Amino acid sequence: MSAVERHSGHAALMDGVYRRQRHIYDLTRKYYLLGRDRMIDGLDVPPNGTVLELGCGTGRNIILATRRYPEARFFGLDISSEMLETASAAITGEDLQHKVRLAQGDATAFDAGKLFARENFDRVFISYSLSMIPGWEKAVAASLAALKPGGSLHIVDFGGQERLPRWFRSVLRAWLAKFHVSPRDSMREVLESESERTGSTLRFETLYRGYAVLAVLRKPN
Ligand SMILES: C[S@@+](CC[C@H](N)C(=O)[O-])C[C@H]1O[C@@H](n2cnc3c(N)ncnc32)[C@H](O)[C@@H]1O
Repeated sequence: MSAVERHSGHAALMDGVYRRQRHIYDLTRKYYLLGRDRMIDGLDVPPNGTVLELGCGTGRNIILATRRYPEARFFGLDISSEMLETASAAITGEDLQHKVRLAQGDATAFDAGKLFARENFDRVFISYSLSMIPGWEKAVAASLAALKPGGSLHIVDFGGQERLPRWFRSVLRAWLAKFHVSPRDSMREVLESESERTGSTLRFETLYRGYAVLAVLRKPN
């Protein structure tokens, strides 16, 4: 299968998952996509900075981040045109279209110059999307490549649930699998190796007894 076929197959899968879900997404996900607001608080965007979200979904995070960092400019990429339709309507509804730009693309291989007319960003963040991206390690590498020197990559996602009851872990994983979500058990090792490869520092935290992980990789200046 070629890269183009893989991309359009996954785009169609995500459109299928979210065609109806997108209408109730923000309402339902607030109860279980934990740690997203903490990640936004930690972005610490520099004045007039630029921020890219990979897998931006309904635009929920970007909209909250525009309130927290009113001088920054935001960019959102998602593979699902269904999700982008919801994001675009929400951003226009909030009158934020002058500071947010959206584009359709694959987080594992995107050309920021072509999509957003800029090569790099002060911050990149990925919220509960690595667990849905086949070849997610490439999205981590692509994010680091898209950062300015001194910039940081912020990740929040499902953790290994290692300090939660076993039954909870099995039920959660079976339920997530129905939505094509797989917690990335090798996340810590992959981020450690990416931090070594790029000379970045890594801060890795587990939240809520391992339910979620929050990581920040900072590139050298
Ligand atoms: C669980 S949602 C998270 C949305 C948002 N980041 C949030 O925190 O609410 C995952 C998103 O990742 C997108 N996605 C999945 N695979 C992708 C890929 N390869 N490239 C870009 N986006 C992708 C999906 O379309 C979906 O919008």
